[in-house]
Amino acid sequence: MGVQTADLANCLGWYQEFFDAEQKWELSRFSDLTLSRLPGIRKLIEVAIGDVRLHLFDRAGHNGRTANEDGFLFQHLCVQVATPQELVDRRRRWVEIYKSGRYSFARSEMPTEIVVDDDGVQSLYLLDVNGLEYELSYVPEGHR
Ligand SMILES: [Fe+2]
Repeated sequence: MGVQTADLANCLGWYQEFFDAEQKWELSRFSDLTLSRLPGIRKLIEVAIGDVRLHLFDRAGHNGRTANEDGFLFQHLCVQVATPQELVDRRRRWVEIYKSGRYSFARSEMPTEIVVDDDGVQSLYLLDVNGLEYELSYVPEGHR
């Protein structure tokens, strides 16, 4: 998944600190195809969160706005965690990082509470620094 941001340092720092994202490689020269698809792209950094690879990049012409939530969009990305405790820990970490003031956030919404559905699946919804939504989810063993 590609994450378009207005401030790559702010974004990378937050992904490293919150998600323990590991920086894989970066690119600052792009193909004609990429330049035509993403005018103003300046730098792209691939990070890994477990098995998920994210491409964080910024654009010179970024308008600083978040997407229209009423239309088509990737509404959230779901990332599984290994234990219910990890949901508790990540939620706490999110709030600590937010309150530290070290990152600027496009939206100021706090994470949701941890919700448990009838099957015992636990979920937590939170926003990254760009206002993009993630679902952190714990799925019990033996769940279909
Ligand atoms: Fe979901």
